[in-house]
Amino acid sequence: MTAEPAPWNTFVEGDNLDVLATLPTGSADLVYIDPPYNTGNDFAYRDDFRGARGAGARGRHAAWVDFMRPRLEAGHRVLADSGVLFVSIDDHEVAHLRLLLDEVHGEDAFLAQVVVNLNPKGRQLGRGFATSHEYVLVYAKDPARCVLDASSTTTVVESDFPLVAEDGRRYRRLPLRNTNKKFNPLTAPTLHFPVHGDPDSGRVSTVPFAGSVEVEPVFGDGAPAVWRWSRPRIEERLDDLECRLVRGPAGDRVDVFQRDWRHPVGGRRKKLRTIWLAEEVGSTDTAVSELKDLVGHVFESPKPTGLVRRILETMPADARVLDYFAGSGTTGHAVALANAADGGRRTCLSVNAPEPTRVGSNAERAGYATVSAITRARLRAVAEQFGGGFRELS
Ligand SMILES: C[S@@+](CC[C@H](N)C(=O)[O-])C[C@H]1O[C@@H](n2cnc3c(N)ncnc32)[C@H](O)[C@@H]1O
Repeated sequence: MTAEPAPWNTFVEGDNLDVLATLPTGSADLVYIDPPYNTGNDFAYRDDFRGARGAGARGRHAAWVDFMRPRLEAGHRVLADSGVLFVSIDDHEVAHLRLLLDEVHGEDAFLAQVVVNLNPKGRQLGRGFATSHEYVLVYAKDPARCVLDASSTTTVVESDFPLVAEDGRRYRRLPLRNTNKKFNPLTAPTLHFPVHGDPDSGRVSTVPFAGSVEVEPVFGDGAPAVWRWSRPRIEERLDDLECRLVRGPAGDRVDVFQRDWRHPVGGRRKKLRTIWLAEEVGSTDTAVSELKDLVGHVFESPKPTGLVRRILETMPADARVLDYFAGSGTTGHAVALANAADGGRRTCLSVNAPEPTRVGSNAERAGYATVSAITRARLRAVAEQFGGGFRELS
């Protein structure tokens, strides 16, 4: 008898410090959290920090760090050795969080501080700059064993492949010669050999043919270079090669290029840069309307599912995801969308405290007495709409 697969979404209500203590060591591959940003009075803490809070700005930061430290330490224990942590944060605590994570994960486990353009119009309230970004800090558990692939399929854009072949497929031209000077006839002698090509027809061959000229790999300055492909590989993929006349500083010369095809979505990945634009990952406005469609406008600062989906793309499609500051349940929603899109088997454990909703807020008026009631409602609605199941554990 085979065991039932775990549902895509699981929810546990409670203080995350208590819940994390119950989770097995190494049981999450990807932790994404979006903790309270400490903008005023936005973090619900059970521990007693009143003394520290009375001590001005330094005390406020110290209270936040004291709140976060045991939660990050517990999350670190739960993270698999090959796993990765992503944390959303803004300018209020980014400096303190970075130092804290350097302590908890180790400075060498730092992978990136990504700038996320979540508010493209910029914050119009108050004086000063119209802040339009926040951050995602990325730390490995163990950088040597981390399986994160910092690339994405969604960043591959059509304009990167500007040429169109006779059969309609898009491609770009890449030089067949290796442009890295580290590779030359001395370091890679087997890759230095002549090929034959006809710049009029574009045909390439490893042996001479009528109308062909001999082409040797050379750098722009004329120094001898090497090909990127071996002779057998060239013979195997002649249809992906093109001979052309090119203008160089030393006059016209004949060269050979690879036709690098744009493969259908899912096949090609592009390195992720460290600035993520709202048009790529969504904005806070997008996030509010995503939430509205499922359960109403009942949470003030949700994250767009596009942001979490980009994060999910960096890890295997069966990643065990954990969000222990789940809020409105964006991470679980993104996991279901990602599984539905690529057939993945990710699972997501969401944790949120039964923090009372603000009196007079949309949430309270809609009948949600606690934030955890919102998390639960959204994850249930996600399962109804996209499948994958939902369960609540206590
Ligand atoms: C900034 S929100 C997360 C928003 C979420 N990323 C989303 O897209 O909806 C932080 C959440 O952490 C929850 N929280 C704060 N302290 C907590 C604690 N000690 N344990 C569990 N949840 C907590 C709050 O109730 C709040 O919903």
